[in-house]
Amino acid sequence: MGMEKWGLLFSLFLSLTSFSLITASGHRVCIIGSGIGGSSAAHFLKSYSLSPSLEISVFERREKVGGRMATVELAGDTFEAGASILHPKNYHALNFTELLGLGRRGDNDDSWFGVWDGKGFVFKTMPPCQWVVLKKLASFFNSLLMFGRYGFSLLRMQSFTLSAVANFLKYYEDSRPIFESVEEMLKWAGLYGLTTQPLQVELEQAGLSDRLISELVTVIMRINYGQDVNISGMAGAVSLAGSDSGLWAVEGGNWQMAAGLIDRSNASLFLQEEIMSISNLGDYYELNSTKGNSYHCNITVVATPLDELNISFSPPISIPKRKLQHTHATFVRGVLNPGYFGLKSISEIPNLVGTVEVPDLPFSSISVLKEYSNEDKAYKVFSRVPMNDDLLDLIFSVRKEVVRINWAAYPHYEAPEIFAPIILDQLHLYYINSFENAASTMETSAVAAENVARLILSRLSSSLINESKGYVGTSISQERMHVDDL
Ligand SMILES: *[C@@H]1O[C@H](CO)[C@@H](O)[C@H](O)[C@H]1NC(C)=O
Ligand SMILES: *[C@@H]1O[C@H](CO)[C@@H](O)[C@H](O)[C@H]1NC(C)=O
Ligand SMILES: *[C@@H]1O[C@H](CO)[C@@H](O)[C@H](O)[C@H]1NC(C)=O
Ligand SMILES: *[C@@H]1O[C@H](CO)[C@@H](O)[C@H](O)[C@H]1NC(C)=O
Ligand SMILES: *[C@@H]1O[C@H](CO)[C@@H](O)[C@H](O)[C@H]1NC(C)=O
Ligand SMILES: *[C@@H]1O[C@H](CO)[C@@H](O)[C@H](O)[C@H]1NC(C)=O
Ligand SMILES: *[C@@H]1O[C@H](CO)[C@@H](O)[C@H](O)[C@H]1NC(C)=O
Repeated sequence: MGMEKWGLLFSLFLSLTSFSLITASGHRVCIIGSGIGGSSAAHFLKSYSLSPSLEISVFERREKVGGRMATVELAGDTFEAGASILHPKNYHALNFTELLGLGRRGDNDDSWFGVWDGKGFVFKTMPPCQWVVLKKLASFFNSLLMFGRYGFSLLRMQSFTLSAVANFLKYYEDSRPIFESVEEMLKWAGLYGLTTQPLQVELEQAGLSDRLISELVTVIMRINYGQDVNISGMAGAVSLAGSDSGLWAVEGGNWQMAAGLIDRSNASLFLQEEIMSISNLGDYYELNSTKGNSYHCNITVVATPLDELNISFSPPISIPKRKLQHTHATFVRGVLNPGYFGLKSISEIPNLVGTVEVPDLPFSSISVLKEYSNEDKAYKVFSRVPMNDDLLDLIFSVRKEVVRINWAAYPHYEAPEIFAPIILDQLHLYYINSFENAASTMETSAVAAENVARLILSRLSSSLINESKGYVGTSISQERMHVDDL
């Protein structure tokens, strides 16, 4: 296939040159957004280019870096408010923490969970044990309980997830090519097919029972993406992997990865600087901010979802319409009302209450973040619509403090997915978040950003080979020919 051939050429080219051709006078790369995508892009651009003249500027409209990685203060304690968990095979994130000297902590133990259907718990695991010896026994009984309810479908679910994860791991192989489109990127790893069908269909084809799909799988989708099993098989597989064991988070907050990467990449950081227009002025892009500042950039990387922003492009760009799924995260310090769940005592309510897809169920999940005493806990509630005080009064018997955050959290997934281009204008305007239609996680953003960084450097290098050619305006195919010529 043609794609593979190009891949080989690109990787050959890259290993031969190590981007050492970038020696021409100053190139300013402007990155819009300081979340994990923008900060990873800055990091990879800096570490892959040997040129000190690559100047990186990062623009952030809020007063803090991190994007959808943020913490919340609840009654004196700090918790992850947005993107909160990482998978043990999230190798970029693991490397970032090592590089930046950040600590890692295990995720809360949510093994005591229940599936709530609005009337009762259709399934519940055993409460945790104090004694270490019994802990193992309890987890064994929990496995038996799960097996009793879902049978061999559980193994099929596991192998479906494992195979998607195995394919994703290809993006860490040295032989990975540089991709110019998300479709090409997914096809190469054998993941594209999963984006064309709903998860429900994929799982039925994999032989999972209706019960497992409508209960456990639905619970996981509602927790991780606030959506039902109509999301694409790809987003579904990533979400299922997010319920594996061995999950972790950065000690003190995941946002520190973004802060550290931006710092280490020696990028200039502009906080509270919202970019409202991007104009191609021939040799460079002019970025204007809402504060009236103008910045000139040879390369522009959009590292934030464009869907709810009002950035005007000149000349205009065209990307497929995409709806973002809003997740309302409500943090409550207090205690749940057992009566709401038809129970007598708080000690009967599982630490993680997941829900199935039932109309009018007012929340997607409730989990205990920290237990101060049996009558005083910190909770996180996810819902698709805001949780008003009246509703919280029904669900909680004690409320000392409430913090509400409305996240434009991830795309509203709809198979078959349509992807925005990575190169928005055929020139030097890039879009990292087009990958979010495949899946939206910290690691997938880092993988997408790493590819964009290599794409930028490879296109920059090949264009600089021919000094007589201004690099703005070189077409992709011309550049491929240059690669060929090597
Ligand atoms: C993580 O860092 C190690 C050591 O620098 C490197 O060999 C490895 O390729 C890195 N992994 C990824 C996914 O970049
Ligand atoms: C999937 O979407 C269809 C059409 O919008 C809807 O009828 C169906 O109920 C959805 N399935 C689930 C499990 O929510
Ligand atoms: C960091 O950036 C400044 C200018 O922004 C430059 O003078 C300096 O050489 C850079 N340092 C490194 C290590 O790249
Ligand atoms: C950006 O700002 C410059 C300088 O103020 C101005 O000349 C230009 O028209 C602005 N561009 C847009 C698209 O608003
Ligand atoms: C980079 O942008 C500057 C404007 O900031 C422009 O003068 C310069 O020509 C551009 N460099 C290249 C190689 O196009
Ligand atoms: C974008 O513009 C629309 C219409 O002018 C407005 O309703 C919306 O609030 C704006 N969005 C942002 C993020 O500024
Ligand atoms: C350099 O670019 C110019 C303009 O595109 C082209 O005419 C010329 O053939 C190129 N030279 C080489 C050596 O590719």
